[in-house]
Amino acid sequence: MNPETILCIDNLTKSMDDGQDAPFQLYQQVNLTMTTGQSIALVGPSGCGKSTLLSIIAGLEPFSQGEVWLFGQALSQLHDEQLCRLRSQYLGFVFQSFMLIPGFSAAENLQMARFIQGQPLSFASAQAVLDQVGLADKANRDVAHLSGGEQQRVALARAIVSKPKLLLADEPTGNLDPATGERISDLMFELNERHQIALILATHDSQLAARCERCYTIRQGSLYAND
Ligand SMILES: Nc1ncnc2c1ncn2[C@@H]1O[C@H](COP(=O)(O)OP(=O)(O)O)[C@@H](O)[C@H]1O
Ligand SMILES: [Mg+2]
Repeated sequence: MNPETILCIDNLTKSMDDGQDAPFQLYQQVNLTMTTGQSIALVGPSGCGKSTLLSIIAGLEPFSQGEVWLFGQALSQLHDEQLCRLRSQYLGFVFQSFMLIPGFSAAENLQMARFIQGQPLSFASAQAVLDQVGLADKANRDVAHLSGGEQQRVALARAIVSKPKLLLADEPTGNLDPATGERISDLMFELNERHQIALILATHDSQLAARCERCYTIRQGSLYAND
């Protein structure tokens, strides 16, 4: 494997069975390779499997067959604690539903994320990262009292506070007005260029997808490269 390879998805298959509907094959033979600092967009209609693929890459969701190599480690071989360590070492994740902790301020959400990673973060440092997403003045605000767009920006701030090598972002501009969306896109690509943070973005935003080096559509369980 090329030493620059940070992600290699090898013949991935996943069957879904929620115990109610008939089981179905969400992915069949998905292959994808990514090297340091690349940017990839995942597009496709709702329900095609963008979010689930991001979760699989992050080791948050199991798969049926094949292998996912992340920073040289085969995910199928790792137990939960090792997956946690791998995530905290290399990954930032912006969830579609944000997954912020209500009852805590924006700054505290960032501080808690770092605390769990064993890296205490001062209020001033948390505020500096919130400033990057335009929310320095909301650092003390309970995240439950922020708008959807503001919560999304806190989620991005939390994902980048650890300076990850790979940022997985699920519809990161989905709740933002066009101007704020562009600002957030600019920030992600600035991080990508300046710090070589690789990006995988699941998105319906065609402008955002067009900024990525590569774009794949998920259709009927397979990835198709867009020209
Ligand atoms: N936990 C689950 N159990 C069963 N089916 C699921 C589960 N999570 C997602 N799905 C199904 O998998 C498919 C892909 O979902 P998802 O990855 O969220 O798509 P997208 O992000 O592209 O909208 C959908 O048909 C969805 O209903
Ligand atoms: Mg989704």
